[in-house]
Amino acid sequence: MQILDGKKTAATIVSEIRQEILQMKQGGLRVPHLAIVLVGYDGASETYVANKIKMCEQCGMKASLLHFADDASQDEIIAAIEQLNSNPDIDGFIVQLPLPAHIDEQKVIEAIDYRKDVDGFHPINVGRLYIGMPCFVCATPKGIMELLRRYNISTRGRKCVVLGRSNIVGKPVAAMLMQKEHGDATVTVLHSHSQRIAEECREAEILVTAIGQPHFIKADMIKEGAVVVDIGITRVPDTSLPKGYRLLGDVDFDNVAPKCSYITPVPGGVGPMTVCMLLLNTLDAAKHTYYQQ
Ligand code: GUN
Repeated sequence: MQILDGKKTAATIVSEIRQEILQMKQGGLRVPHLAIVLVGYDGASETYVANKIKMCEQCGMKASLLHFADDASQDEIIAAIEQLNSNPDIDGFIVQLPLPAHIDEQKVIEAIDYRKDVDGFHPINVGRLYIGMPCFVCATPKGIMELLRRYNISTRGRKCVVLGRSNIVGKPVAAMLMQKEHGDATVTVLHSHSQRIAEECREAEILVTAIGQPHFIKADMIKEGAVVVDIGITRVPDTSLPKGYRLLGDVDFDNVAPKCSYITPVPGGVGPMTVCMLLLNTLDAAKHTYYQQ
C-alpha cells in the first residue's frame, strides 16, 4: 500500500509555479494576480481564503481580497464582479462559496467572465470540460487527476466508481475520468438514491468518494488492490484537540488502507492539491492558455 501524498506533491507543484513566476518576472512580465471575493464571516471560508492568499504569496503570485459584510446585497457583489471582469490587472478571480442565503449563487457565478473564472464554475467552463475543450477545470477534480498522474496511476480502461454527484467534485471528476484525453475510464457515478452502493464500490479499481459522511467506506466495500481517493473532509467535534474538532474523511482509513494499492489520507491527500490547482489556473489565466482576453 502506498500513500498518495498530496502535501508533498502540492509542495513540488508550488515550487514549480514559483519557478515559472520568477522566470516571468525576469522576462519583464508582471506576476499573475488572483482576486478573491469573500462575503460574510463563515469561519471555514475565512480559513480557506487565508490559505489561498498564503499560498499565492509562497508562489510569488499577487493576491487581493475583496471582503464584504454578510449583509452586502447581490447587486453590490455583481458590481464588484463586473469591475474585476474589466480590470486588466486581474488575471483571474473567485467568489468564495457558500454565499449568504439572500444571494443567488448561480447568478453570481454567471456574472463572472468565463475567461477569468479560475474556479471553473461558470457554465461555459463546465460545458467545455464536458465536451473535452480546453477550459478552466475546478480545483478538486483537477487536483485528483494531477495526483493520479504524478503517481503514474493509469485510468485507461479501468473501472472507476465516483461516490457523490456535486457540481464541483462528483460530476466534473466523472467527466474527466471518462474523457478521451487522460481519462478513458469506465465510470459509474453513485449518489444518495443509488442502489447496491457497497457492491458497486467493491467492483471499483479506482474509487473516488465525495459524500461528506465520515468513515462511510468500510474495508468490506473495497476491492483488493484498489486505488482509493477520499475527498470527504468533515469536521467532527473533538475537545481533546486545541482546534476543538478533527477532520475525518469518507473512508475508514485504518481498516481500508491495508487492502489498497494506493490511498489518500485525510488530511494531507487531495486537500493540499486543490489550492495548487487554483494557482495553476491563475497562472494559466495570466498566460492566456485557454482564452485570449
Ligand atoms: N467553497 C468550497 N470550495 C470552494 C472552491 O473551490 N471555490 C470556491 N469559490 N468556493 C469554495
